[in-house]
Amino acid sequence: MPLITMKQIMADSLKKALDPSVDTKERYAVGAFNFSTIPEMVGIVEGAREVKSPVILMLSLGALKYIGSLELVAYTARGIARQYPEVPFCLHLDHATDLEMIKQAVVAGFTNVMIDASQEPYEDNVRKSKEIADFAHKHSPLGLNGCSVEAELGMLAGHEDNIHVSEEDAGKAYTDPELVADFVEKTGIDALAVAIGTAHGFYKAAPKIRFDLLEEIRRKTDTALVLHGGTGVPEDDFRKCVAMGMSKINVGTGLKKVYTDAVREAIKSLPESEYDPRKIVGPGRKAIAAEIASKSELFNCAGKAEAVLKSMY
Ligand code: 13P
Repeated sequence: MPLITMKQIMADSLKKALDPSVDTKERYAVGAFNFSTIPEMVGIVEGAREVKSPVILMLSLGALKYIGSLELVAYTARGIARQYPEVPFCLHLDHATDLEMIKQAVVAGFTNVMIDASQEPYEDNVRKSKEIADFAHKHSPLGLNGCSVEAELGMLAGHEDNIHVSEEDAGKAYTDPELVADFVEKTGIDALAVAIGTAHGFYKAAPKIRFDLLEEIRRKTDTALVLHGGTGVPEDDFRKCVAMGMSKINVGTGLKKVYTDAVREAIKSLPESEYDPRKIVGPGRKAIAAEIASKSELFNCAGKAEAVLKSMY
């Protein structure tokens, strides 16, 4: 079953992240990419297949509103899993805040959900994250532990559909390493999104990643760590994050641009008499696949599909 939980898809990466005897060059993070249309979903999985990589497909609340149905996405993912059985992938609901809606996603068959209560007081973040972790670990139609959970501690600047955080507020809210172990233990989550200097959307200037914080956080917990705001992060910073034990890297905005640029180019190059949408959207899907293949190489997860599948058994 290539449609697997995020906990399963990150298990091999996490093992390598936690083992100090592993050469840092062997570590890798699984790429996680936002989509808002079905051709993008397919393009992401095709890109992963090209380089034998695991991959995570992320649905934001804005994309959900556009598509209109959790079930439609969940069933599409199951169809993709049948079509591309060699690609281990996870279907993730990104930055969700409404507990009832998150539970619906679990029941619809998402294999990971993110509860983002990071803007709320610490105790509320703990309570809500635990409620979702308890629910997801018991209620997936895909079986016991068929859905894992990501939560966030600290806040990222930028704009992510329903969540807006100013640079000033985010600057005050890096992940506090002293809270990490307590948060993970009390909530029972499977992955922790950390605020270490990245932001959502395009950067005005290159981000200053707090690697000192990452090092401290990595020492405080053995849960998988997630880097949000991957668009525009310099390649060497990605490599350093991976070497230091990051297991998942999110990219959204940059991928939208790759898709839209390719579609725009296709429209420009076609005669006005051409009306076949496949000739317009098709190049977008191809461009997405190429970008996923390239990011998978960068995150060192190309070639890891087999290791991920083996780690599950
Ligand atoms: P970017 O849009 O900055 O790449 O961030 C994506 C993200 O972190 C989604 O959760």
